[in-house]
Amino acid sequence: MTQLTILRYPDPRLHTVARPVVQFNAPLRELAGAMFQTMYEAEGIGLAATQVDVHEQLLVIDVSEAHDQPMVLINPEIVWSSPETRTGDEGCLSVPGIYDGVERSLAVKVEAFDLDGKRRVIEAEGMLAVCIQHEMDHLKGKVFVEYLSPLKRNRIKTKLIKQLKEEARDAVA
Ligand code: NI
Repeated sequence: MTQLTILRYPDPRLHTVARPVVQFNAPLRELAGAMFQTMYEAEGIGLAATQVDVHEQLLVIDVSEAHDQPMVLINPEIVWSSPETRTGDEGCLSVPGIYDGVERSLAVKVEAFDLDGKRRVIEAEGMLAVCIQHEMDHLKGKVFVEYLSPLKRNRIKTKLIKQLKEEARDAVA
């Protein structure tokens, strides 16, 4: 298993729009496995392929505490979303240390393929619904901070660029 590097905002590669997966093969399985490992290691509940610089429509999710409910969603499509919304704090492995409110549908119905190429329907609500919407945004090249005001977004950008510079300096020191 490989540990993958997670791209960090404002890396422009995070704005790449992912292509649909066309081949359900061993490399795809390996990618999903490595993404789970990377996500669990980073204590995240979701990770989109975009975040590890692979621009294919694949995401992994596990919202359980025990890490025993892994889900792989390939070429996901939201076929229904509840008109009721809720604004809750979100974070992102590509935006470390930043949490802010984003308005999302309370429930969604999603069609996606699994690793065997089987089409599945997932009905999600609560944290899983939020997570699916957040990760699907990544596949479209969208990071959650883009829902925030330009002022907040710029503050976050400045903070993260400073953080990256400090880390680079610490690495050579
Ligand atoms: Ni994210």
